[in-house]
Amino acid sequence: MAITLKNKSELQKMRRAGRIVGDCHCLLREAIRPGITTAALDKLVHTYITQQNGIPSFLGYPGPTPYPAATCISVNEEVVHGIPGSRLLQEGDIVSVDIGVIWQGYHGDSAWSYPVGAIDLKARQLLETTEQTLYHALTFAQVGGRLGDISHSIQHFAESHGLSVVRKYTSHGIGKSLHEEPEIRNYGRAGRGVRLREGMTLAIEPIVTQGSHAVRECDDGWTAVTVDGTLAAHFEHTIAITEDNGPEVLTRQDKLSTHE
Ligand code: MF3
Ligand code: CO
Repeated sequence: MAITLKNKSELQKMRRAGRIVGDCHCLLREAIRPGITTAALDKLVHTYITQQNGIPSFLGYPGPTPYPAATCISVNEEVVHGIPGSRLLQEGDIVSVDIGVIWQGYHGDSAWSYPVGAIDLKARQLLETTEQTLYHALTFAQVGGRLGDISHSIQHFAESHGLSVVRKYTSHGIGKSLHEEPEIRNYGRAGRGVRLREGMTLAIEPIVTQGSHAVRECDDGWTAVTVDGTLAAHFEHTIAITEDNGPEVLTRQDKLSTHE
């Protein structure tokens, strides 16, 4: 399968999918607090998605076992693909929530990392720098640029702030499928790779750790954790490459609005 370029009506559907994902993050931002379980957060998201006539795309996703929830919720040294459950969030934790929605056949995908109550300075710096790493990368998502420019910018930005980029997971094309071509490494050289064109839709997702970039999988077959036990953060937006205005962020976290 080659890289698919999306036309106006396809982009319209991806905007809608992306908006549902963004709204979920707005709800989560308010809901995340010490004492709430990760299962309760998942339920909140699942309910909102289905109310909006969307489909939670992670639920049933093929893997060692079909993925069992609407969200991936990864706490502290958990990197990605944490399974929601009875764990209670505690003051000082950081929590990454990854959400995928299908709307009329098109996908939106966005992850965000949140503080739980007051967190220490180093954790705060990890969250701030990883969010900045994402937004810095998006400035390279321009017609005529290359995929390598995005990859390089992620690695360079995170590492120049003393952090590491996880190599095992990639950013990716997105559209009728959650994962489409191209696969986009979150590290590498600038000036290389496919040229960016109008109508490409990409999920850019730096995953950053405080220590080594090495990760391992847990016994549940899904949850990935840092090998050295340091904290990890994950910020992801689905974007469209546009001719005139640079990248359009499809998973913006606008104030919750009713969908007409
Ligand atoms: N947003 C992630 C990704 O882009 C998570 C999907 S994992 C799933 O790869 F299994 F839960 F779907
Ligand atoms: Co993704």
